[in-house]
Amino acid sequence: MSDNVLVTGGFGLVGSATVRRLSELGRRVVVADLDTAANREKAEALPTGAQVRWTDLTDADAVRRLISDVTPEVIIHLAAIIAPPIYRNAKLARKINVDATATLVGVAEAAPTPPRFVHASSNAVFGPRNPHTTTPPLRADEPMRPGDVYSGQKAEAEAIVRGSSLPWVVLRLGGVLSVDPKAIPFSADALYFESLLPADGRLHSVDVRDVAWAFAAATTADVVGEILLIAGDDSHRILQCDAGPALAAARGLAGVLPAGRPGNPNDDSAWFVTDWMDTTRAQEALQFQHYSWPDMQAELAKNVGWTRHAMRLFSPLAPAIRAVLKRRGAYWKAPGQYADPWGAIRAKLGEPAWDQPRELS
Ligand SMILES: NC(=O)c1ccc[n+]([C@@H]2O[C@H](COP(=O)([O-])OP(=O)(O)OC[C@H]3O[C@@H](n4cnc5c(N)ncnc54)[C@H](O)[C@@H]3O)[C@@H](O)[C@H]2O)c1
Repeated sequence: MSDNVLVTGGFGLVGSATVRRLSELGRRVVVADLDTAANREKAEALPTGAQVRWTDLTDADAVRRLISDVTPEVIIHLAAIIAPPIYRNAKLARKINVDATATLVGVAEAAPTPPRFVHASSNAVFGPRNPHTTTPPLRADEPMRPGDVYSGQKAEAEAIVRGSSLPWVVLRLGGVLSVDPKAIPFSADALYFESLLPADGRLHSVDVRDVAWAFAAATTADVVGEILLIAGDDSHRILQCDAGPALAAARGLAGVLPAGRPGNPNDDSAWFVTDWMDTTRAQEALQFQHYSWPDMQAELAKNVGWTRHAMRLFSPLAPAIRAVLKRRGAYWKAPGQYADPWGAIRAKLGEPAWDQPRELS
């Protein structure tokens, strides 16, 4: 076995930050990700010492070659198709989120010295969270109750990892944000998604650099066999309606996002799959929380730089932009007063129902 740390999905949002953190710590990193033009560009900027192995993890032979060549001491498994893109192609997502996880775990189990397997899961596995009928924070020992295809596939993958003979660690992440204006681009789907989420749903955000810190620490900390809840300090316990407008304002776009609809207090299933989490054990073991929510907003504003001031010149246009976005939003002219997130996803993105529902503990 080498001292390589293999990072799957190492060019994604969490992966890029994790590779950077591991390199800062002097670890030997191998990234396994898809050979795409965008990832080739990111590979040019890999930190010194980090290497790339172009691999489609849905190809079992390629996975076997990867593990036998790299002989990793640790695998950090991040590769996935996440929300909202998953709703447009749940079938393809299953191949990477569930089937490829099973292949990777099986190949790793068969290695002469099986690696530690640090797995990226999500707070989504707890299912939809109605703030009127549930009391935060979520604890790691509460049952998984996936409610849609994303939370379902993430729960299935987690069950595969936890059922393996590998020395595993599961990190369930909250809502990952970045102060890099380019890291989370605005897209039509992203704006639509933002508009459909219940405005008063609870969201536990976290800076991607703190997530990266947690993944790097989990490769060596005494946490094998644990499920750790990874989210920011208490300042990150926010509502859905706090996040988008604050991030837009930090970019100089205050007041452009229309107010969303509140969730239905009388329907526990009509909420998104996020909530505040108890991070006490994760913080004790990994010491990863460094960036507060106010710090993030200030740093994003600084990073946006002069364009922020240029954007401010357009502030008299904010009501007009808000009106356009409202017309493009999920509930324009929709009857009722409450958000219907799954109906809105079905109407524009794709079927959100979990494709292979089953009992999972
Ligand atoms: N971003 C969040 O807010 C969040 C929240 C909770 C959990 N997570 C989990 O964290 C992990 C990383 O998320 P992210 O935000 O960095 O996602 P991302 O979409 O930015 O990155 C995913 C990466 O996986 C790669 N990938 C996809 N299919 C692949 C394949 N067939 N073979 C190899 N690589 C493939 C992509 O190229 C990409 O680089 C995921 O497992 C996700 O479920 C993320």
